[in-house]
Amino acid sequence: MTITKQDELDGLKEIGRIVASTMQAMAQAMTPGMTTRELDEIGRRLLEREGARSAPQATYGFPGATCISVNEEIAHGVPGDRVIAPGDLVNIDVSASKNGYFADTGATYRVAPVHPSLDRLCRDGKRARQIGISQVRSNRPLAGIGNAIGHFASSRGYTLIRNLASHGVGRSLHEYPGDVATWPTRGDPRRITKGLVLTVEPFLSTGGHWATGGDDGWTLYSEPCAPAVQYEHTVVATDRGAIVVTVPDRPA
Ligand code: CO
Ligand code: CO
Repeated sequence: MTITKQDELDGLKEIGRIVASTMQAMAQAMTPGMTTRELDEIGRRLLEREGARSAPQATYGFPGATCISVNEEIAHGVPGDRVIAPGDLVNIDVSASKNGYFADTGATYRVAPVHPSLDRLCRDGKRARQIGISQVRSNRPLAGIGNAIGHFASSRGYTLIRNLASHGVGRSLHEYPGDVATWPTRGDPRRITKGLVLTVEPFLSTGGHWATGGDDGWTLYSEPCAPAVQYEHTVVATDRGAIVVTVPDRPA
């Protein structure tokens, strides 16, 4: 969507706060021995309490309120019987709607103790998102986001998953202007328009290039198999840069 009025920004900020606070609470509740279904149940209850609807469930019939992806799973993991274990990398992605506004956020968390190389990957995954967000401003090229992230990733020896794009969001989960690359591209003439709402969600990896589907029709795996992390915010483009709307009630 394109934000033109204050009440639209307020509506988007409210659902942004809800999804961010839900994800944060799930991460804080996550302990080894818990199943991903139990973790999802925490998220489902929090969304319900806020009067919000899970977007993947409502939009695509996803079998869970949130997407929870562990280790070799990199996105759209289905909550279920899998038990979270020490050393796991767990991605939680929460998208939901309220009063017709949609926001989308995600982050990869470590279950201690994890290998130092994964600490570095997570830290740099957040930096990659920040670098992408810094390219969001009215009238800048949309491709600037992926080009800046790509420069950072290659300078640090990382790969980027090249078929899981960022996207327009706001009045539905995936909308205009469609896919936005978080990897270097050429020939994309689109520019960021004032008030445009989009996600910035690079998937940074230590060797993965593609996401491929498994047997359940939802879960995506890294190809070739390698650790991958994703950090996602929903942002609004303005003349002075990006407004991040997926901010929790309380800082982490
Ligand atoms: Co998401
Ligand atoms: Co998204």
